[in-house]
Amino acid sequence: MSLADFLNKLDELESEASAALQTVSDSEQLESLRVRYLGAKSGLFKDVQKLLGGIGGDDKPAAGKRLNEVKRSIQQALELAKDLVAGGSTAGSGPAPDPTLPGIPMRLGHLHPVTQTIEHLKEIMGRMGFSTAEGPEVEDPWHNFVALNIPEDHPARDPLDNFYLATAGAVAASEGSRLLRSQTSTVQIRVMESSKPPIRVISLGRVYRPDAPDATHFPMFHQMEGLLIDTEVTMANLKTVLRIFANNYLGGDVEIRFRPSFFPFTEPSVEVDFFWNGQWIEFGGAGMVDPAVLTGVGYDPEIYSGFAFGLGIERLCMRRHGITDIRDLFSGDLRFLKQF
Ligand code: DAH
Repeated sequence: MSLADFLNKLDELESEASAALQTVSDSEQLESLRVRYLGAKSGLFKDVQKLLGGIGGDDKPAAGKRLNEVKRSIQQALELAKDLVAGGSTAGSGPAPDPTLPGIPMRLGHLHPVTQTIEHLKEIMGRMGFSTAEGPEVEDPWHNFVALNIPEDHPARDPLDNFYLATAGAVAASEGSRLLRSQTSTVQIRVMESSKPPIRVISLGRVYRPDAPDATHFPMFHQMEGLLIDTEVTMANLKTVLRIFANNYLGGDVEIRFRPSFFPFTEPSVEVDFFWNGQWIEFGGAGMVDPAVLTGVGYDPEIYSGFAFGLGIERLCMRRHGITDIRDLFSGDLRFLKQF
């Protein structure tokens, strides 16, 4: 017999055995196939093996090699079939699965109410042409204080009122020190330093102050800062923007009050109150950007003017959803968070 014929026979045997073993459904059938292919006396493999004697001496090694391969491949197919039969028999012992039963519902998470609020505020302010800017939470005293016209001896810079970082060798008040920003007004400076008027941005993010937590205070909270710089900007523009914002976020009937106040970086300055549960509650500050701040970033206050505001995001969220304790927002209690 020629080597080619021998190898053909082996190929046929291999594919026949592999096809047959794939359809095995019980152990009886498996056993009869084992005997058919690998049976010691009359198995089909044995029959082909006997033909090896008729192969010429030079071709013997190649023929023998392929013979061993096919034997191993049939053995492997048998093992696989055995596993299938075993698996099938355990599954078969219980009731068959019912594919028409409804599946187990997946538990879906959702965005935190503060994050939802941030998205909502961006959307409302976006419609008035404000784009979003971001700044770092770890700040230097220049952006958190100096550029905002807050002098060295101002009480707002007190180490007891700020989270200064323990930077090696730096004293709280020195220029090399770093702190967790206490206000998002820092981003006003960063935006003005890196762009030219006209400017219309908001910046929403975390701020940090060492306040003892109570129903209305938390050492970390979020602010929405707004900054608009152009020629001929007036206090009337500021009031209009804040009114439109409040009407959109808190409802058309919200009552808003501007109370004269003082901030080092605005002149004049106001505090912004909304009426809530029978009383006026402060939501933040605002004002016309102080000429000293404009000069500090290289803008000519004879040409440009602008307004700025900073509102507490948690307060806005709480007022809209009727939440009475800010600590609930950060408790991580899913029973609370699930409601939003
Ligand atoms: N940064 C102030 C604060 O955290 C709030 C504020 C007041 C922001 C007046 C402003 C502003 O932009 O013009 O208390």
